[in-house]
Amino acid sequence: MYEWIKAFHVMAVISWMAGMLYLPRLMVYHADSAVGSVQSETFKIMERRLLKGIINPAMALTWVLGLYLAWSAFGFKGGWLHGKILLVVILSGIHGFLVGRVRAFAEDRNDKPARFYRIINEVPAVLMALIVILVIVKPF
Ligand code: HEM
Repeated sequence: MYEWIKAFHVMAVISWMAGMLYLPRLMVYHADSAVGSVQSETFKIMERRLLKGIINPAMALTWVLGLYLAWSAFGFKGGWLHGKILLVVILSGIHGFLVGRVRAFAEDRNDKPARFYRIINEVPAVLMALIVILVIVKPF
């Protein structure tokens, strides 16, 4: 059973990360589109569907299954696990921040330049690399 839960945990992680890497990339282009233009309205639909259809449910599933694994096999013990949970909390904070940016774009009140979203785009990738090293190498 544990291996099955882990398989579904990894599937949820892949879906969440795909969205977390793609959403700020959409915003890079959205920030450069004129308010009211066809592109801008299309980006709004893409962002909303990506967030509601994939990113939000994938994050919830990653958390539920990850916490089950952490509890059932490790009793929430281990430096690597504590480090991992801390990094996932930061990743979830960025997720929350992006939810706010989707809302700002939807209401035509984005005030950040494309360069800002280019930088934000790198953060989930760095966190993901550190999280995967912690859970697979378990260095401490
Ligand atoms: C709070 C959320 C999370 C918790 C509590 C959690 C916890 C766990 C636990 C306990 C395992 C099993 C480790 C083992 O059997 O050795 C696991 C597996 C895994 N987790 Fe998470 N996880 C969470 C979120 C994430 C995220 C966000 C990522 C990637 C960005 C991730 C990537 C992985 C991978 C790749 C595995 C498979 C490792 C392996 O067994 O080879 N997890 N997770």
